[in-house]
Amino acid sequence: MNRVLVIGAHGQLGQSFRHWTPQYPNFQFFFEDLPAFDLLDREFLRQYFESTSINIVINCAAYTAVDQAEDEAEKAHLLNTEAIDLLCKLSKTFGFKLIHFSTDYVFDGTALSPYKEEDMLNPLGVYGTTKAQGEKVMRTSGIDGWIIRTSWLFSPYGKNFVKTIFSLLQNKDEISVVADQTGSPTYALDLAASTLNALAQNPLFEGVQVYHFTNSGHTTWHAFATAIQQQIKTQCKINPVKTDASFNKAQRPKFSVLNCEKIKKEFNLNPQSWESALEDCIKRIK
Ligand SMILES: NC(=O)c1ccc[n+]([C@@H]2O[C@H](COP(=O)([O-])OP(=O)(O)OC[C@H]3O[C@@H](n4cnc5c(N)ncnc54)[C@H](OP(=O)(O)O)[C@@H]3O)[C@@H](O)[C@H]2O)c1
Repeated sequence: MNRVLVIGAHGQLGQSFRHWTPQYPNFQFFFEDLPAFDLLDREFLRQYFESTSINIVINCAAYTAVDQAEDEAEKAHLLNTEAIDLLCKLSKTFGFKLIHFSTDYVFDGTALSPYKEEDMLNPLGVYGTTKAQGEKVMRTSGIDGWIIRTSWLFSPYGKNFVKTIFSLLQNKDEISVVADQTGSPTYALDLAASTLNALAQNPLFEGVQVYHFTNSGHTTWHAFATAIQQQIKTQCKINPVKTDASFNKAQRPKFSVLNCEKIKKEFNLNPQSWESALEDCIKRIK
């Protein structure tokens, strides 16, 4: 039986993994997060793995505050890069496979077609830089595992764009949303389901494989907000604005659509459109 540890269990992706556990009776799951489980506590982690015989680690923990990271580079580096180095060392010692998540923000957004796994990384901000460094540490570590890049995560859990806009649309007469950034919204429940589906296929692990996973289709943040409004029907006006007028501290890629053909082909996955995923998410939020 696979003994699967999900780290960052209280975050939106971590909670999405927990949602699917009843469907995987052949996996024994362990869910851990702060404060009891600290990914930065070397000695605690060594003892944890010594006493648990985990064979798959799914790392959902990360420093994900994109703008705040510009002021907290050291904190972001510790969790997004140093902690990955530590997990790789532990993977070597204890032999578990590491499933790690990364982001579209490792790209600079100048591409004219969806990014492939092997395209050049050129992050624009601290968050993307620390995630790209974490990827590099893992790719060069010699361990077995997957790096799954995803984008624009939303879910009924935690803090995310859909929940923020849902609440603003009910409480404001007018809001402004950026209309010149294009990406693919990804339902965290679909990402977790597809990851578990792929793991249940007993894949051969040989080194570190990089995959892209998003829901199908792409949009702008403004059109995404408009799609949320169409489902909850409020009178709030949604004004399109340019990135330059949005006062965000971190620079973001203008275009960060990911090409997901590799994971789809290898594991026979067929992610639903972001629009139908959004419909499911709004039903659950309501
Ligand atoms: N969110 C997005 O739009 C997005 C887009 C692309 C890729 N991703 C990637 O997807 C993955 C999951 O993101 P998410 O949105 O689910 O993140 P999230 O909601 O921010 O969850 C991260 C979790 O990690 C926990 N954590 C923080 N420091 C920790 C530590 N030292 N030890 C153990 N746990 C710790 C956090 O706890 P606290 O809350 O207590 O700090 C939180 O529960 C990340 O790798 C992220 O980079 C996310």
